[in-house]
Amino acid sequence: MVRLRRLRRTETIRNMFAMDVPSRDRFIWPVFLVEGKGRKEAISSMPGQFRWSIDRLVKEFPAGVKAVLLFGQTEGEKDEVGSGAADPGGVVQRAIPKLKRAFPELAVFTDVCLCAYTSHGHCGPHDADGDIDNDAACEMLARVAVSHARAGADGVAPSAMMDGQIAAIRAALDDEGVSKTLLIAYSTKFASTMYGPFREAENSAPSQGDRQGYQASYRDPDTAVRESLVDEEEGADALMVKPALWYLDLIGRVRSRTLLPVMAYNVSGEYAMIHAASKAGFCELYPAARESLYAIFRAGATQVISYWAPYYDEIFQTANQTNRRLR
Ligand code: PBG
Ligand code: ZN
Repeated sequence: MVRLRRLRRTETIRNMFAMDVPSRDRFIWPVFLVEGKGRKEAISSMPGQFRWSIDRLVKEFPAGVKAVLLFGQTEGEKDEVGSGAADPGGVVQRAIPKLKRAFPELAVFTDVCLCAYTSHGHCGPHDADGDIDNDAACEMLARVAVSHARAGADGVAPSAMMDGQIAAIRAALDDEGVSKTLLIAYSTKFASTMYGPFREAENSAPSQGDRQGYQASYRDPDTAVRESLVDEEEGADALMVKPALWYLDLIGRVRSRTLLPVMAYNVSGEYAMIHAASKAGFCELYPAARESLYAIFRAGATQVISYWAPYYDEIFQTANQTNRRLR
């Protein structure tokens, strides 16, 4: 008789036939930066995540985190085009060399978008008809990416979902002589309800309308796959599917069509939902996080951008010990 239970009879046997534990090298931690000194502000919808000033982040940087994805914002003037995003004196541009000096081994990636810097919260400026102006956005995004690359970023990750943004940024990086910088495309990024906590953290919600005119539609998965294929053609070094957990099928589909790395962004809403469920007593926090991260890797993600990154030990090494306090 076929008895599959033989393959899982003891802990040792289960471990022997298990897939490898996802290595901490595969995790990228998204970090929210703010101006000023000594700041570490809790984000109410994301327990265990903070808005950091640069000095405080350097001082309390979590051991074992190998890579970060930096998000900036401004408390100063925002304008129609989001020009603050390309300011060489901006918080992201200043944080990069400080982090690299303090932690030479750390991989420092940056999010390249305009929504935290535009007065209206969209990922590009408006054209005369009131639409988001694709090509004007690409020009700005290229300037932002160059400013991050010049500051020493190991990689830039454009998230605006404008057509041609990868080609525009690749050309600008080459023209400006910063061609060593990785270009990580948020290639298949959906218009999702799962970005709410992030927009609270970043003050980047659109003041009017939504992002369905530029972010991919979850009702049109074929076009969503094409988004990644086009970004590969345009010169991306890595692709991405975002969000992760409701899009495991897309991670698998994109992976089967490319030899590029396929990152997955385990977004703010996914993190917040597990926290909320565990708080309500529906599941235990770290085991639930662990199960969800295995799902993302099993689907075919090669790296994961995740707010769980600083909690790697709690999740993967002491998975049974669920009552440890969050830092
Ligand atoms: C900016 C951006 C967003 C996220 C990453 N970059 C928000 C959005 O598109 O509205 C979401 C990340 C998260 O929810 O964790 N374009
Ligand atoms: Zn944006």
